[in-house]
Amino acid sequence: MCGIFGYVGKKNPINVCMQGLLHLEYRGYDSTGIGGIHNGKIEICKSEGKLANLKKKLDLPMLELAIAHTRWATHGKVNHANAHPLLDASGSIALIHNGIIENYQELKENLIKEGIPFSSETDSEVVVNLIAKFYKGDLAQAIHKALGLLKGIFAFLVIHKDHPQEIIATAQDCPLSIGCNIDKSESMISSDPNTFQGDSYDIFFLKEKEIARVTSGCVEIFDQHLKSIRKRSERLEIEQQAPTKNGFEHFMLKEIFEQPSTIRRALLGRFNQGIFFEELQLSNVFFKSIENLWILGCGTSSHAGVLGTYLMEDLARFPSSVEIASEARYRNPILSKKTLVIAVSQSGETADLLAATREAQKYGCKTLGICNVKNSTLVRETSGVIFLRAGPEISVCSTKAFTAQLTVFILLSLYFANLRNTQIDVGAIYKELLTIPAHIEQILERQEEIQKIAKKYAKFDDFIFLGRRYMLPTAQESALKLKEISYANANSYAAGELKHGPIALLGPNFPVIAFCANRQTRAKIASNLMEVKARQSPIFAIAPVEFTEMEAIADDVFYVPSTIDPLAPFSSAVVGQLFAYYIAKERGSDIDQPRNLAKSVTVE
Ligand code: G6P
Repeated sequence: MCGIFGYVGKKNPINVCMQGLLHLEYRGYDSTGIGGIHNGKIEICKSEGKLANLKKKLDLPMLELAIAHTRWATHGKVNHANAHPLLDASGSIALIHNGIIENYQELKENLIKEGIPFSSETDSEVVVNLIAKFYKGDLAQAIHKALGLLKGIFAFLVIHKDHPQEIIATAQDCPLSIGCNIDKSESMISSDPNTFQGDSYDIFFLKEKEIARVTSGCVEIFDQHLKSIRKRSERLEIEQQAPTKNGFEHFMLKEIFEQPSTIRRALLGRFNQGIFFEELQLSNVFFKSIENLWILGCGTSSHAGVLGTYLMEDLARFPSSVEIASEARYRNPILSKKTLVIAVSQSGETADLLAATREAQKYGCKTLGICNVKNSTLVRETSGVIFLRAGPEISVCSTKAFTAQLTVFILLSLYFANLRNTQIDVGAIYKELLTIPAHIEQILERQEEIQKIAKKYAKFDDFIFLGRRYMLPTAQESALKLKEISYANANSYAAGELKHGPIALLGPNFPVIAFCANRQTRAKIASNLMEVKARQSPIFAIAPVEFTEMEAIADDVFYVPSTIDPLAPFSSAVVGQLFAYYIAKERGSDIDQPRNLAKSVTVE
């Protein structure tokens, strides 16, 4: 899983590719590399670790075109040999790859028997050697032959030393876009069209083993039988801004602080007597025909999805279920045209989510994307979309996208509540929702209190996060934050489940972080925490202001503004984010780009 970028045109290809990589680093940062053609020879420079390392050692001559890669390691350790671009054994062809070749072992063994030496542990090196084996003067033809043998998902860019004017691109179930600028003087290829530099582009999205021969300002596309095809392009306006931290030490902290405004933006213009999503191209008649919902997501988005099912149940009395996309894609679900599948994703590029959504489409279901990134694959492939409007989220650890997803789920539940004539007072809930950004502002003003508590807990390596009802997914999300950026072992459980196993872990070195803002279950979680206290685990409770009895139970309490249960996750999640942030800071980890993670996971 990686980011790939290529450039051919009038500008310096190295500069354009380095800029492209900067915006693709969210797809992995184990190593980076850039390669191109100079005087009939392939030149490559690669480096372990982040782009900054590559930048320091960059010593390439002027290239005629270039391909560039940022890696999230799948096959093979994080080292120089496994970094892309990878060369074939003769050094004539270079390749960069996003995806996984599932049958690479078998192909590699055959190539080794034929005498081909390998210098990396990657699945990708097999592909470049296969292409070399089939090469008879036409690179596109050689790639086409190689594709016939490959199983898996992939996007490749390939160059040959004897063809200094062309980059060959191909893709199967991995996003790959080719953009030609309007005056046809340059072409860019990228895993993500939002990384194109400039204003507007004619963009082609490759799929199903289509092969593209990309030259300066021009693209020739072939189908999977190598027949030349006319593919329609889309004209995209790219809003690309260089990410800035705006004076904050980390993107994560900046994004936590943006939440009052991102929630307000998610609400803007979406309530006028009823709920209204301007961009949604599905009609009321269609929504009335829907009998149940299946919500899909991964990571943070799956936690928002769980809250989504609670909201649909409580506010709209709508049958809905939720599933992690990586599991959903292999289930045998009972779906029909009357099921609406809701795919939740910040990036719109998560491979498991896209695959699960495509599976659901096979049942004839309509799909609704809840997504932050315009021009993403999810947005293109779903029947309708609601945008999060959270702005670019740079930190790998998701924060503002989560609260924007929650906002959209509340609005959507209110929409369904209206449609289904449930007895809830939509206007009153919406009015309460409008107070949430101010609640978060109050919490952000008191961040030092959370920092102080976090300092105290930073020495522990094991945590249990507890919650009930709306606080369970909130606790799960908060534990995920802590795991991701501080590398602490943070488990999360329904507080009522504690006695069925996890309680065995408790003791003075095993703190419990308790999310207590769900009014309905207040007395119940208080009892659960007494059980924890009896085992001497330190307790940090996040509780609503009126829950003063917490003072006597917990070692540390942070009080959040009071609200109705369906809206309680907002404030508590923000406390969880700040708690994780300050623990990670105390432990000195790389907060915006934690080890082994990537912002967008484009492999299974
Ligand atoms: C990765 C990220 C998580 C994110 C998850 C789902 O694992 O590190 O922060 O929640 O992917 O991403 P999505 O873009 O689909 O919401």
